[in-house]
Amino acid sequence: MQYGHFDDAAREYVITRPDTPRSWSNYLGSRLYGGIITQGAGGYSFYKSGGQGRVTRFRFNGVPQDEPGRFVYLRDDADGDFWSASWQPVGKPLRGRDSGGRDGDEEDAAGNPTQASSVRHGLGYSIFHSSYRGIDSEATYFIPQGQAFEYWSVKVTNTTAKPRTVSLFSYAELSNEWNYRQDLENLQYSQYVVVCRMQDGMIHRLNSTRTHTSELWFGMAGADVAGFDTDRDAFLGSYRTQSAPIAVERGYCSGSEATGDNACSTIQAKLELAPGETRQVIYMMGVGAPDASWEDADGVALPKGREIMAKYGTPEAVDRELDAIRSEWRDYLSPLQVATPDEQMNSMINVWHAYQTHMTFNWSRGVSLIEAGDRDGLGYRDTVQDMLAVIHAIPEAVRERLDMILTGQTEEGGAMPLVRPWAHRPGHETTPTLEQYRSDDPLWLPITVANFVYETGDVAYLDTVLPYADHGSATVFEHLKQAIQFSLNHLGYNGLVQGLQADWNDCLQFGTTGESMFSTFLMANGVRVIAELAEQTGREADAAWARSVLEGLEVVLENAWDGGWYIRGISSTGAKLGSDTLDEGKIYLEPNVWAAISGTVPEARAIGAMDSVYERLSTEHGVALCAPAHTKEVPGVGLSLLVFPPGHKENGGIFCHANAWTVVAEGILGRGDRAYEYYRAFLPAKYNDQAELHQVEPYVYSQFVHGPESPRFGQARNPWLTGTASWSYVGVTQYILGVRAELSGLRIDPCLPEGWNGYQVTRRFRGMDLTINVVNVDGLATGVSSVTIDGDEVASLDDEGKRGALVPVEALSDGAVLTVTMG
Ligand code: GLC
Repeated sequence: MQYGHFDDAAREYVITRPDTPRSWSNYLGSRLYGGIITQGAGGYSFYKSGGQGRVTRFRFNGVPQDEPGRFVYLRDDADGDFWSASWQPVGKPLRGRDSGGRDGDEEDAAGNPTQASSVRHGLGYSIFHSSYRGIDSEATYFIPQGQAFEYWSVKVTNTTAKPRTVSLFSYAELSNEWNYRQDLENLQYSQYVVVCRMQDGMIHRLNSTRTHTSELWFGMAGADVAGFDTDRDAFLGSYRTQSAPIAVERGYCSGSEATGDNACSTIQAKLELAPGETRQVIYMMGVGAPDASWEDADGVALPKGREIMAKYGTPEAVDRELDAIRSEWRDYLSPLQVATPDEQMNSMINVWHAYQTHMTFNWSRGVSLIEAGDRDGLGYRDTVQDMLAVIHAIPEAVRERLDMILTGQTEEGGAMPLVRPWAHRPGHETTPTLEQYRSDDPLWLPITVANFVYETGDVAYLDTVLPYADHGSATVFEHLKQAIQFSLNHLGYNGLVQGLQADWNDCLQFGTTGESMFSTFLMANGVRVIAELAEQTGREADAAWARSVLEGLEVVLENAWDGGWYIRGISSTGAKLGSDTLDEGKIYLEPNVWAAISGTVPEARAIGAMDSVYERLSTEHGVALCAPAHTKEVPGVGLSLLVFPPGHKENGGIFCHANAWTVVAEGILGRGDRAYEYYRAFLPAKYNDQAELHQVEPYVYSQFVHGPESPRFGQARNPWLTGTASWSYVGVTQYILGVRAELSGLRIDPCLPEGWNGYQVTRRFRGMDLTINVVNVDGLATGVSSVTIDGDEVASLDDEGKRGALVPVEALSDGAVLTVTMG
């Protein structure tokens, strides 16, 4: 079953049935002012922080779902019938859907008028189309580049042969307190801090709260103000819902002005529409005041709302600003575009997957319909991994984030689990206790720093001196070594890395006496990366140190082999997790993929481990994180995953973030069919015509899919902000399509499924835009026999027998066309 389709030329996903199984949402704006909007126009806006700067309200997990939002009601003033520009919140019978009619029928079987309603989610904007009883509307929502205001621009067309009078009513519920919890929960205070006035045609909401004064304006251009309400309850009426506000039902507002209780932003327009006539009404809402400039606590100054309305409240400005957003996103996405035989892969990589990696980088896990929205610090491990997919596109922004997150590392080498950038004071933070540390957090740094250096060629970055979170400072390279040293200083009885509060898996607590095989492989991987970095940058002593650490690990790694795969860890009481000897949690995904990725075990072991993953964990919807799922305690291990029923989340769910590693691992092993099979298994676009099963957006990755032991097997949950975005992008672009930055050039190392005769990647690398055409007449999985650049063969590809071709940076130039022949 389909609810929509990809429109790649427009870089949009078109929802043709807005009654999607769950909300299918989109992001708006920037880190100054942003928002979320669902396919029903639900969602919220915020200034700088979803938790601390909430501008409009949203009730999580409400019934009906996704309310409130940014609603525009339309009313036929001849007979009082009303509907909304988005299908919800009024929810008229959908044309040809829930009404017993056919597509195109303007009435359902019972003779009720039906609404045709569709949504175009684009990059940074959403457009809602509606047709109802001869009135068409198109509502476009977006936040212009670098601005702290939003547009709701509504075009209304009379498609009938008679004159029509249509009223429009805007509605958003405005937050009283910027702190979202205070606003929604501490009502004995937050309900008495708001004043909302109509001021010469513009709504002005003022709140003086304990922490600051916040102001908001709302205005309308393109029509006269026919009425207004700024008191929510006056607009909606008692005991009513947003599906039928009293003001809309009776056709006029009451001119209410909120003092205390709850504010809203309703301005009514009355449009007299001749046959065929279109009118455009532009609602605008922004931070600040109508008639005074405004400054936030950080000194950011915002102009008077009335000035913004005068400058931006025209159809031309709306078009110009929307074009600017579109071209901004084209620029963000253009550094990597592909044309492969897999259309769904193309749709994802070229548009939505890349967009998701940017959103995840921007918002971490903070701005969301799922993560409560007040989680606005940066989780250490999440942040370091989120950078991996955007280095090639926004290296400057990554550098800034990398600098900051490196200062979240403590002098002993561990890392603060959460860094709050606005409050972070490097050199002055409290050192976590050993029990509080996560064993994996700092171990992600070597991968990300190395990739940053490889992508940019900026080897000097490794010598940059940055403070530690608590005391002291060191070069970036020393920070990396210190991350390893921390693990080495906290090895367990069996020589594995102590698991501490958690490793990547938040739900496994091995503590200070138990050991994590995942973190051990992640450390081994980090040491290998450091060794390679050291060798290439003339740090011989460091390279020797790293090699000796790896040698010292050989026996430990071998001892962790369980017979068919690697164990997950060893408890404080000596019991193994992830062992065939157990009834539950026999095999875990994480240590086995990282055995292969780290390249620190014999190849036969890596293959054996990955074959066991395939046999024991793989399903048509992806790879389960462990099997069988847990129902019982394991002595000595904190299994907080027991709170989840089998097949949910970390307890045997298909955790998509870790699924991405299967693609990387098989890519490294050169098994193209399997890498591709894993890639396809959890590819969101694959579910476009199985949306009733997958349920969430087919255009973005989710945190997890219910696993085989769940009654919801195949249903995805927690879309958008997830480490899946970054790693699956790395997996497909670098390990299937095989284009990876190295210090001395670009490696092209395809690892393809059977039957692929070639593909194209256009890729920015160190300021050069390159076109890479891979030719594979024999349908091989791996191997490159020759590379030409603009027709000339590249002479030396010699690099110690590694797979693929390393094209030296000196041979590349802006606009160069590479032909890579497999063989
Ligand atoms: C969530 C967390 C992430 C963790 C993962 C596995 O996605 O954000 O930090 O690694 O769960 O537990």
